[in-house]
Amino acid sequence: MGQGTTQNVAGKSNAGKTHIIVVGNEKGGSGKSTSAMHIVISLLERNYRVVIIDLDARQKSLARYIENRQAYADQHNLKLTMPDVHILERVEGGTTVELEQQDEVNFSNLIDGLMGKYDYILIDCPGSDSYLSRLAHISADTLITPLNDSFVDVDLLAVVNPDTYKVEKLSLYSEMVWEARKRRAMKDRGTIDWIVMRNRTSALDAKNKRRVHDVLTQLQKRVAFRYVPGFGERVIYRELFPKGLTLVDFKNNGNEKMTMSHVAARQEIRRLMDDLQLPGWDKAAVAAAE
Ligand SMILES: Nc1ncnc2c1ncn2[C@@H]1O[C@H](COP(=O)(O)OP(=O)(O)OP(=O)(O)O)[C@@H](O)[C@H]1O
Ligand SMILES: [Mg+2]
Repeated sequence: MGQGTTQNVAGKSNAGKTHIIVVGNEKGGSGKSTSAMHIVISLLERNYRVVIIDLDARQKSLARYIENRQAYADQHNLKLTMPDVHILERVEGGTTVELEQQDEVNFSNLIDGLMGKYDYILIDCPGSDSYLSRLAHISADTLITPLNDSFVDVDLLAVVNPDTYKVEKLSLYSEMVWEARKRRAMKDRGTIDWIVMRNRTSALDAKNKRRVHDVLTQLQKRVAFRYVPGFGERVIYRELFPKGLTLVDFKNNGNEKMTMSHVAARQEIRRLMDDLQLPGWDKAAVAAAE
């Protein structure tokens, strides 16, 4: 493991603008927090200033991941890269209109206070619809939707014909993003770069894998997202949470044994970071630093 030292490498330039990354999908357990954690640590590794907003105030998975990381670093005397963390709770007790107004004020105040101080704000959304989550989607410069490799998950994006696997109509989550894009355009003429990444793809189920691929390929034109390969199903993604570590923390420096699965996972994380096309992310510099 890299003993937490961040590398000073060339290529860091975000033109002073804070870029908002939102990780969202109303489907629970699709890999939002796991992906978010790996993206955050990848950015920190490149010396970007990163702050997390955890909107899942009930589970706080991402904030807990960071807590574990701090505790592990303290216990083992390691200097690990660490993002700043905010948890934003939904307001409770009042009429819907009042609650939404207060959520809106709290959300804007938090974002306004962070803008300009960081290169990236990463917002991890809960696995269900909430007003705060909608506000986050509207504010996204990059929206990342991890999707488990199953038609149960695809169903939140589109209804698919059971015989032909053709896309029949859009469903809940795609409609919500569509609405968020409209509201964003009205707000500041901004656009949302929407990326759908597959998660937990299995080497075993080639038929299902290909069908999901075909549907997402059809859908990406219709709904205007970029569909990227994402992560495979790997035990290692589940094991690192208690230590707060990510695959990004493992280095080829001989301190930790890297299995084939570690190496493959690191490669898919690097590929995802390249696929995101974030401002200032210099593919060539990252490859050279490996
Ligand atoms: N690529 C993967 N391979 C294996 N396990 C994974 C992978 N991605 C995520 N997991 C596991 O799947 C579970 C759900 O992941 P995670 O908590 O990241 O999802 P989530 O979308 O944030 O969930 P929620 O909607 O509850 O917030 C966790 O146990 C996680 O360790
Ligand atoms: Mg989560």
